[in-house]
Amino acid sequence: MKSPLNNLYAAQTREMKHSFVRLILKLTKGVEGMISFAGGMPSPDTFPREIIAGLFQEVILKEGHDVLQYGSSEGDPVCKQVIKSYEEVPDWPDEKIMITVGSTNGIYFYTRTFIDPGDVIISESPTFPGSLVAFEACGAEVVGVPMDSGGIDPDRLVETIGTLRKEGKRIKFIYLIPEFQNPSGITTSRQRREAVIAIASEHAIPILEDSPYRELRYTGERIMSMWEIARTQFDDPALVTIAKSFSKILGPGLRLGFIAGREDIIIPMVKWAEKVTVSPDCTTQRVVARFIEKEHLNAHIRFICDYYRPKLEAMLSALEAHMPDSVTWTRPEGGMFVWVDLPESLDAEALFETARKKGVAFIPGNNFFPKNTYRKNAFRLNFSYPSVEDIHTGIERLGSIVKTFAGR
Ligand SMILES: Cc1ncc(COP(=O)(O)O)c(C=O)c1O
Repeated sequence: MKSPLNNLYAAQTREMKHSFVRLILKLTKGVEGMISFAGGMPSPDTFPREIIAGLFQEVILKEGHDVLQYGSSEGDPVCKQVIKSYEEVPDWPDEKIMITVGSTNGIYFYTRTFIDPGDVIISESPTFPGSLVAFEACGAEVVGVPMDSGGIDPDRLVETIGTLRKEGKRIKFIYLIPEFQNPSGITTSRQRREAVIAIASEHAIPILEDSPYRELRYTGERIMSMWEIARTQFDDPALVTIAKSFSKILGPGLRLGFIAGREDIIIPMVKWAEKVTVSPDCTTQRVVARFIEKEHLNAHIRFICDYYRPKLEAMLSALEAHMPDSVTWTRPEGGMFVWVDLPESLDAEALFETARKKGVAFIPGNNFFPKNTYRKNAFRLNFSYPSVEDIHTGIERLGSIVKTFAGR
Protein backbone atom coordinates (compact mmCIF):
# COMPACT_ATOMS: atom_id res chain seq x y z
CA MET A 1 0.00 0.00 0.00
CA LYS A 2 1.34 3.40 -0.97
CA SER A 3 0.98 5.85 1.91
CA PRO A 4 0.17 9.56 1.37
CA LEU A 5 3.30 10.09 3.50
CA ASN A 6 5.46 8.36 0.89
CA ASN A 7 7.14 11.60 -0.23
CA LEU A 8 8.01 12.44 3.36
CA TYR A 9 9.59 9.08 4.13
CA ALA A 10 13.38 8.97 4.33
CA ALA A 11 14.89 7.53 1.14
CA GLN A 12 16.02 4.42 3.02
CA THR A 13 12.53 3.87 4.48
CA ARG A 14 11.03 4.10 0.99
CA GLU A 15 13.43 1.40 -0.23
CA MET A 16 13.03 -0.93 2.75
CA LYS A 17 10.95 -4.10 2.22
CA HIS A 18 9.42 -6.61 4.59
CA SER A 19 11.53 -9.73 4.53
CA PHE A 20 10.39 -12.38 2.07
CA VAL A 21 10.87 -15.01 4.77
CA ARG A 22 8.23 -13.26 6.89
CA LEU A 23 5.90 -13.30 3.93
CA ILE A 24 6.38 -17.04 3.42
CA LEU A 25 5.71 -17.68 7.09
CA LYS A 26 2.49 -15.67 6.81
CA LEU A 27 1.43 -17.63 3.71
CA THR A 28 1.94 -20.98 5.39
CA LYS A 29 0.91 -20.34 9.00
CA GLY A 30 -2.41 -21.79 10.19
CA VAL A 31 -3.19 -23.41 6.79
CA GLU A 32 -5.03 -26.65 7.52
CA GLY A 33 -3.00 -29.78 6.85
CA MET A 34 0.16 -27.76 6.09
CA ILE A 35 3.42 -29.25 7.31
CA SER A 36 5.85 -26.39 7.46
CA PHE A 37 9.62 -26.69 7.45
CA ALA A 38 9.78 -22.98 6.67
CA GLY A 39 10.04 -21.42 10.13
CA GLY A 40 13.15 -20.83 12.16
CA MET A 41 11.45 -21.20 15.51
CA PRO A 42 12.45 -23.30 18.48
CA SER A 43 9.78 -25.72 19.69
CA PRO A 44 7.64 -24.22 22.48
CA ASP A 45 8.04 -27.60 24.24
CA THR A 46 11.61 -26.50 25.05
CA PHE A 47 10.67 -23.32 26.92
CA PRO A 48 11.36 -23.74 30.66
CA ARG A 49 8.08 -22.10 31.56
CA GLU A 50 7.70 -23.09 35.19
CA ILE A 51 11.22 -22.12 36.27
CA ILE A 52 11.04 -18.83 34.37
CA ALA A 53 7.59 -18.03 35.81
CA GLY A 54 8.88 -18.66 39.33
CA LEU A 55 11.95 -16.54 38.72
CA PHE A 56 9.96 -13.60 37.35
CA GLN A 57 7.87 -13.58 40.50
CA GLU A 58 10.88 -13.96 42.78
CA VAL A 59 12.95 -11.30 41.00
CA ILE A 60 10.14 -8.75 40.92
CA LEU A 61 9.26 -9.30 44.59
CA LYS A 62 12.82 -9.33 45.88
CA GLU A 63 14.63 -7.09 43.42
CA GLY A 64 11.81 -5.07 41.88
CA HIS A 65 13.14 -1.80 43.35
CA ASP A 66 16.16 -2.32 41.12
CA VAL A 67 14.88 -4.14 38.03
CA LEU A 68 11.71 -2.11 37.46
CA GLN A 69 13.88 1.01 37.34
CA TYR A 70 15.69 2.34 34.21
CA GLY A 71 18.75 0.20 33.57
CA SER A 72 22.09 0.83 31.93
CA SER A 73 22.41 0.68 28.16
CA GLU A 74 25.36 -1.71 28.29
CA GLY A 75 23.32 -4.14 30.39
CA ASP A 76 22.72 -5.25 33.96
CA PRO A 77 26.07 -5.71 35.80
CA VAL A 78 24.65 -8.75 37.63
CA CYS A 79 23.67 -10.40 34.36
CA LYS A 80 27.03 -9.51 32.80
CA GLN A 81 28.96 -11.10 35.65
CA VAL A 82 26.94 -14.32 35.44
CA ILE A 83 27.39 -14.50 31.66
CA LYS A 84 31.15 -13.83 31.97
CA SER A 85 31.46 -16.71 34.46
CA TYR A 86 29.38 -19.00 32.24
CA GLU A 87 31.54 -18.11 29.23
CA GLU A 88 34.70 -18.70 31.30
CA VAL A 89 35.94 -15.11 31.17
CA PRO A 90 35.01 -14.11 34.75
CA ASP A 91 37.77 -11.51 34.99
CA TRP A 92 36.98 -9.69 31.76
CA PRO A 93 36.28 -5.99 32.30
CA ASP A 94 32.58 -5.12 32.00
CA GLU A 95 33.39 -2.79 29.09
CA LYS A 96 34.06 -5.82 26.86
CA ILE A 97 30.54 -7.15 27.03
CA MET A 98 27.16 -5.68 26.24
CA ILE A 99 23.75 -7.22 26.85
CA THR A 100 21.48 -6.87 23.84
CA VAL A 101 17.82 -7.23 22.89
CA GLY A 102 18.42 -10.60 21.21
CA SER A 103 21.47 -11.03 19.04
CA THR A 104 19.72 -9.19 16.17
CA ASN A 105 20.11 -6.02 18.21
CA GLY A 106 23.82 -6.70 18.83
CA ILE A 107 24.45 -7.42 15.15
CA TYR A 108 22.66 -4.20 14.19
CA PHE A 109 24.68 -2.01 16.58
CA TYR A 110 27.93 -3.67 15.47
CA THR A 111 26.96 -2.90 11.86
CA ARG A 112 25.99 0.67 12.76
CA THR A 113 29.36 1.10 14.43
CA PHE A 114 31.29 0.20 11.27
CA ILE A 115 29.19 0.81 8.17
CA ASP A 116 28.96 3.91 6.01
CA PRO A 117 26.88 3.55 2.85
CA GLY A 118 28.86 1.65 0.22
CA ASP A 119 31.11 -0.19 2.68
CA VAL A 120 31.48 -3.93 2.22
CA ILE A 121 30.68 -6.81 4.58
CA ILE A 122 31.94 -10.25 3.56
CA SER A 123 29.70 -13.14 4.57
CA GLU A 124 29.39 -16.85 4.04
CA SER A 125 27.15 -17.76 1.15
CA PRO A 126 24.43 -18.73 1.92
CA THR A 127 23.88 -16.74 5.10
CA PHE A 128 21.19 -15.65 7.57
CA PRO A 129 18.70 -13.34 5.78
CA GLY A 130 17.90 -11.42 9.01
CA SER A 131 21.47 -10.15 9.01
CA LEU A 132 21.56 -9.65 5.23
CA VAL A 133 18.61 -7.25 5.39
CA ALA A 134 20.01 -5.46 8.46
CA PHE A 135 23.37 -5.00 6.69
CA GLU A 136 21.66 -3.69 3.57
CA ALA A 137 19.43 -1.39 5.62
CA CYS A 138 22.62 0.15 7.02
CA GLY A 139 23.81 0.80 3.44
CA ALA A 140 26.35 -2.03 3.25
CA GLU A 141 27.13 -4.06 0.16
CA VAL A 142 27.25 -7.72 1.19
CA VAL A 143 29.67 -9.89 -0.75
CA GLY A 144 29.26 -13.63 -0.31
CA VAL A 145 32.02 -16.24 -0.28
CA PRO A 146 30.92 -19.83 -1.00
CA MET A 147 31.11 -22.54 1.65
CA ASP A 148 32.03 -26.19 1.47
CA SER A 149 31.38 -28.84 4.09
CA GLY A 150 34.12 -27.33 6.32
CA GLY A 151 32.79 -23.76 6.29
CA ILE A 152 33.70 -20.65 4.29
CA ASP A 153 36.23 -21.39 1.53
CA PRO A 154 39.52 -19.75 2.64
CA ASP A 155 41.02 -19.55 -0.88
CA ARG A 156 37.91 -17.82 -2.19
CA LEU A 157 37.98 -15.53 0.87
CA VAL A 158 41.54 -14.39 0.08
CA GLU A 159 40.63 -13.97 -3.59
CA THR A 160 37.53 -11.90 -2.68
CA ILE A 161 39.47 -9.64 -0.31
CA GLY A 162 42.09 -9.07 -3.06
CA THR A 163 39.48 -8.27 -5.72
CA LEU A 164 37.50 -5.92 -3.50
CA ARG A 165 40.61 -4.05 -2.40
CA LYS A 166 41.75 -3.70 -6.03
CA GLU A 167 38.36 -2.16 -6.77
CA GLY A 168 38.98 0.36 -3.98
CA LYS A 169 36.18 -1.04 -1.79
CA ARG A 170 36.31 -0.60 1.98
CA ILE A 171 35.85 -4.00 3.65
CA LYS A 172 34.63 -3.37 7.19
CA PHE A 173 34.15 -6.86 8.61
CA ILE A 174 33.63 -10.55 7.94
CA TYR A 175 30.33 -11.98 9.21
CA LEU A 176 30.38 -15.69 10.07
CA ILE A 177 28.03 -18.24 11.65
CA PRO A 178 30.49 -21.04 12.36
CA GLU A 179 28.19 -23.25 14.44
CA PHE A 180 25.28 -25.18 12.82
CA GLN A 181 24.91 -22.34 10.40
CA ASN A 182 21.55 -20.88 9.50
CA PRO A 183 20.66 -21.84 6.77
CA SER A 184 23.15 -24.55 5.79
CA GLY A 185 23.54 -26.45 9.08
CA ILE A 186 27.31 -26.53 8.38
CA THR A 187 29.77 -26.27 11.27
CA THR A 188 33.10 -24.65 10.45
CA SER A 189 35.92 -27.06 11.32
CA ARG A 190 38.56 -26.13 13.88
CA GLN A 191 41.26 -26.02 11.21
CA ARG A 192 39.10 -23.77 9.02
CA ARG A 193 38.38 -21.43 11.94
CA GLU A 194 42.11 -20.99 12.48
CA ALA A 195 42.75 -20.46 8.76
CA VAL A 196 40.04 -17.80 8.52
CA ILE A 197 41.25 -15.97 11.65
CA ALA A 198 44.78 -15.97 10.20
CA ILE A 199 43.48 -14.47 6.92
CA ALA A 200 41.43 -11.83 8.76
CA SER A 201 44.41 -10.97 10.95
CA GLU A 202 46.78 -10.65 7.99
CA HIS A 203 44.35 -8.33 6.20
CA ALA A 204 43.34 -6.46 9.38
CA ILE A 205 39.62 -7.15 8.95
CA PRO A 206 37.61 -7.81 12.14
CA ILE A 207 35.30 -10.83 12.37
CA LEU A 208 31.75 -10.82 13.75
CA GLU A 209 31.00 -14.37 14.95
CA ASP A 210 27.23 -14.91 15.21
CA SER A 211 26.61 -17.98 17.33
CA PRO A 212 23.02 -18.40 18.52
CA TYR A 213 23.05 -22.20 17.99
CA ARG A 214 26.35 -23.00 19.72
CA GLU A 215 24.72 -24.89 22.63
CA LEU A 216 22.48 -26.99 20.35
CA ARG A 217 24.97 -29.78 19.57
CA TYR A 218 23.38 -33.24 19.25
CA THR A 219 26.36 -35.30 18.06
CA GLY A 220 30.11 -34.89 17.59
CA GLU A 221 32.72 -32.92 19.50
CA ARG A 222 32.40 -29.34 20.68
CA ILE A 223 34.78 -26.97 18.84
CA MET A 224 36.34 -23.84 20.34
CA SER A 225 34.53 -20.69 19.24
CA MET A 226 36.45 -18.35 16.92
CA TRP A 227 36.25 -15.79 19.71
CA GLU A 228 38.10 -18.17 22.01
CA ILE A 229 40.62 -19.29 19.38
CA ALA A 230 41.50 -15.66 18.56
CA ARG A 231 41.90 -14.88 22.28
CA THR A 232 43.98 -17.86 23.19
CA GLN A 233 46.01 -18.70 20.08
CA PHE A 234 46.54 -15.54 18.09
CA ASP A 235 48.57 -12.38 18.59
CA ASP A 236 45.44 -10.50 17.73
CA PRO A 237 43.08 -11.50 20.53
CA ALA A 238 40.72 -8.62 19.79
CA LEU A 239 39.99 -9.65 16.21
CA VAL A 240 36.78 -11.59 16.86
CA THR A 241 33.60 -10.22 18.45
CA ILE A 242 30.97 -12.82 19.32
CA ALA A 243 27.19 -12.33 19.34
CA LYS A 244 25.20 -14.88 21.33
CA SER A 245 21.56 -15.31 22.22
CA PHE A 246 19.23 -16.96 24.70
CA SER A 247 16.55 -17.21 21.98
CA LYS A 248 17.20 -20.82 21.03
CA ILE A 249 17.84 -22.12 24.53
CA LEU A 250 15.32 -20.27 26.71
CA GLY A 251 12.86 -18.65 24.30
CA PRO A 252 13.08 -15.93 21.63
CA GLY A 253 10.28 -13.97 23.31
CA LEU A 254 12.67 -13.05 26.12
CA ARG A 255 14.67 -11.05 23.54
CA LEU A 256 17.98 -11.45 25.30
CA GLY A 257 21.46 -11.86 23.94
CA PHE A 258 24.93 -10.44 24.40
CA ILE A 259 27.93 -9.39 22.42
CA ALA A 260 31.53 -9.63 23.63
CA GLY A 261 34.69 -8.21 22.16
CA ARG A 262 37.18 -5.37 22.43
CA GLU A 263 36.21 -2.24 24.36
CA ASP A 264 36.68 0.08 21.39
CA ILE A 265 33.99 -1.85 19.52
CA ILE A 266 31.59 -2.31 22.44
CA ILE A 267 31.72 1.32 23.68
CA PRO A 268 30.47 2.87 20.40
CA MET A 269 27.81 0.17 20.23
CA VAL A 270 26.60 1.24 23.67
CA LYS A 271 26.35 4.82 22.34
CA TRP A 272 23.94 3.52 19.67
CA ALA A 273 21.97 1.57 22.30
CA GLU A 274 21.59 4.69 24.45
CA LYS A 275 19.66 6.26 21.58
CA VAL A 276 17.70 3.27 20.33
CA THR A 277 16.79 0.68 22.97
CA VAL A 278 17.88 2.59 26.13
CA SER A 279 18.44 -0.81 27.72
CA PRO A 280 17.35 -4.42 27.34
CA ASP A 281 14.46 -5.40 29.62
CA CYS A 282 15.94 -5.20 33.13
CA THR A 283 13.71 -7.85 34.73
CA THR A 284 14.41 -10.36 31.98
CA GLN A 285 18.16 -9.82 32.33
CA ARG A 286 18.02 -10.53 36.06
CA VAL A 287 15.73 -13.56 35.58
CA VAL A 288 18.17 -15.07 33.09
CA ALA A 289 21.06 -14.26 35.43
CA ARG A 290 19.32 -16.08 38.30
CA PHE A 291 18.43 -18.99 35.97
CA ILE A 292 22.13 -19.48 35.20
CA GLU A 293 23.25 -18.79 38.76
CA LYS A 294 20.88 -21.46 40.12
CA GLU A 295 22.53 -23.88 37.68
CA HIS A 296 19.47 -24.59 35.56
CA LEU A 297 21.13 -23.81 32.25
CA ASN A 298 23.33 -26.85 31.61
CA ALA A 299 20.57 -29.29 32.56
CA HIS A 300 18.15 -27.38 30.36
CA ILE A 301 20.55 -27.46 27.40
CA ARG A 302 20.92 -31.24 27.82
CA PHE A 303 17.12 -31.53 27.80
CA ILE A 304 16.80 -29.48 24.61
CA CYS A 305 19.51 -31.47 22.83
CA ASP A 306 17.81 -34.75 23.77
CA TYR A 307 14.52 -33.27 22.52
CA TYR A 308 15.88 -32.11 19.11
CA ARG A 309 18.24 -35.03 18.35
CA PRO A 310 15.44 -37.44 17.24
CA LYS A 311 13.96 -34.69 15.05
CA LEU A 312 17.25 -34.21 13.23
CA GLU A 313 17.63 -38.00 12.87
CA ALA A 314 14.06 -38.24 11.53
CA MET A 315 14.70 -35.56 8.94
CA LEU A 316 17.96 -37.10 7.73
CA SER A 317 16.48 -40.58 7.45
CA ALA A 318 13.33 -39.27 5.72
CA LEU A 319 15.47 -37.39 3.17
CA GLU A 320 17.46 -40.58 2.58
CA ALA A 321 14.25 -42.54 2.03
CA HIS A 322 12.34 -40.08 -0.17
CA MET A 323 14.67 -37.82 -2.19
CA PRO A 324 15.92 -38.79 -5.66
CA ASP A 325 19.66 -39.48 -6.22
CA SER A 326 20.21 -36.12 -7.94
CA VAL A 327 19.46 -34.24 -4.69
CA THR A 328 22.02 -33.73 -1.90
CA TRP A 329 21.72 -32.28 1.60
CA THR A 330 23.87 -31.35 4.60
CA ARG A 331 24.16 -33.56 7.68
CA PRO A 332 24.32 -31.12 10.60
CA GLU A 333 25.51 -32.11 14.07
CA GLY A 334 23.18 -29.62 15.75
CA GLY A 335 21.14 -26.46 15.30
CA MET A 336 17.76 -26.32 13.59
CA PHE A 337 18.30 -26.53 9.81
CA VAL A 338 19.17 -28.85 6.94
CA TRP A 339 20.12 -27.41 3.56
CA VAL A 340 19.06 -29.17 0.37
CA ASP A 341 20.79 -28.73 -3.02
CA LEU A 342 18.77 -29.52 -6.14
CA PRO A 343 20.01 -30.23 -9.67
CA GLU A 344 21.02 -26.95 -11.36
CA SER A 345 18.02 -26.92 -13.69
CA LEU A 346 15.48 -26.83 -10.81
CA ASP A 347 14.04 -23.64 -9.34
CA ALA A 348 13.18 -23.91 -5.64
CA GLU A 349 10.70 -21.01 -5.90
CA ALA A 350 8.62 -22.86 -8.49
CA LEU A 351 8.92 -25.96 -6.34
CA PHE A 352 7.72 -23.95 -3.34
CA GLU A 353 4.55 -22.87 -5.14
CA THR A 354 3.63 -26.48 -5.95
CA ALA A 355 4.67 -27.76 -2.52
CA ARG A 356 2.56 -25.13 -0.77
CA LYS A 357 -0.52 -26.23 -2.69
CA LYS A 358 0.21 -29.82 -1.67
CA GLY A 359 0.58 -28.93 2.01
CA VAL A 360 4.30 -28.72 2.63
CA ALA A 361 6.51 -25.63 2.95
CA PHE A 362 10.18 -24.65 3.11
CA ILE A 363 12.19 -21.51 2.40
CA PRO A 364 13.57 -21.27 -1.16
CA GLY A 365 17.36 -20.84 -1.17
CA ASN A 366 17.48 -17.59 -3.14
CA ASN A 367 16.54 -15.72 0.08
CA PHE A 368 19.84 -16.66 1.67
CA PHE A 369 22.34 -15.55 -0.97
CA PRO A 370 24.14 -12.23 -1.18
CA LYS A 371 23.62 -10.80 -4.69
CA ASN A 372 26.99 -11.89 -6.12
CA THR A 373 26.36 -15.56 -5.35
CA TYR A 374 22.63 -15.75 -6.05
CA ARG A 375 21.21 -19.12 -7.14
CA LYS A 376 17.83 -20.78 -7.17
CA ASN A 377 18.40 -24.53 -6.92
CA ALA A 378 18.42 -24.98 -3.13
CA PHE A 379 16.17 -24.71 -0.09
CA ARG A 380 16.26 -24.70 3.71
CA LEU A 381 14.38 -27.11 5.94
CA ASN A 382 13.69 -26.53 9.63
CA PHE A 383 13.40 -29.56 11.89
CA SER A 384 13.06 -28.01 15.37
CA TYR A 385 9.38 -27.05 15.12
CA PRO A 386 7.50 -29.92 13.36
CA SER A 387 6.87 -33.20 15.19
CA VAL A 388 8.82 -36.36 14.28
CA GLU A 389 5.66 -37.75 12.66
CA ASP A 390 5.14 -34.60 10.58
CA ILE A 391 8.80 -34.67 9.55
CA HIS A 392 8.33 -38.16 8.06
CA THR A 393 5.02 -37.29 6.36
CA GLY A 394 6.19 -33.87 5.14
CA ILE A 395 9.47 -35.10 3.67
CA GLU A 396 7.69 -37.97 1.94
CA ARG A 397 5.28 -35.42 0.40
CA LEU A 398 8.16 -33.14 -0.59
CA GLY A 399 10.22 -36.02 -1.99
CA SER A 400 7.45 -36.99 -4.38
CA ILE A 401 7.11 -33.35 -5.61
CA VAL A 402 10.88 -33.07 -6.10
CA LYS A 403 10.88 -36.38 -8.03
CA THR A 404 8.18 -35.05 -10.36
CA PHE A 405 10.13 -31.82 -10.91
CA ALA A 406 13.40 -33.72 -11.46
CA GLY A 407 11.63 -35.90 -14.04
CA ARG A 408 11.92 -39.19 -12.18
C1 LIG B 1 22.21 -16.89 12.58
C2 LIG B 1 21.25 -16.11 13.39
N1 LIG B 1 21.65 -14.98 13.98
C3 LIG B 1 20.82 -14.25 14.74
C4 LIG B 1 19.51 -14.62 14.94
C5 LIG B 1 18.62 -13.72 15.75
O1 LIG B 1 18.34 -14.23 16.97
P1 LIG B 1 17.76 -13.35 18.18
O2 LIG B 1 16.43 -13.92 18.47
O3 LIG B 1 18.74 -13.53 19.27
O4 LIG B 1 17.70 -11.92 17.74
C6 LIG B 1 19.05 -15.79 14.36
C7 LIG B 1 17.65 -16.18 14.53
O5 LIG B 1 17.09 -17.01 13.88
C8 LIG B 1 19.93 -16.56 13.56
O6 LIG B 1 19.55 -17.68 12.96
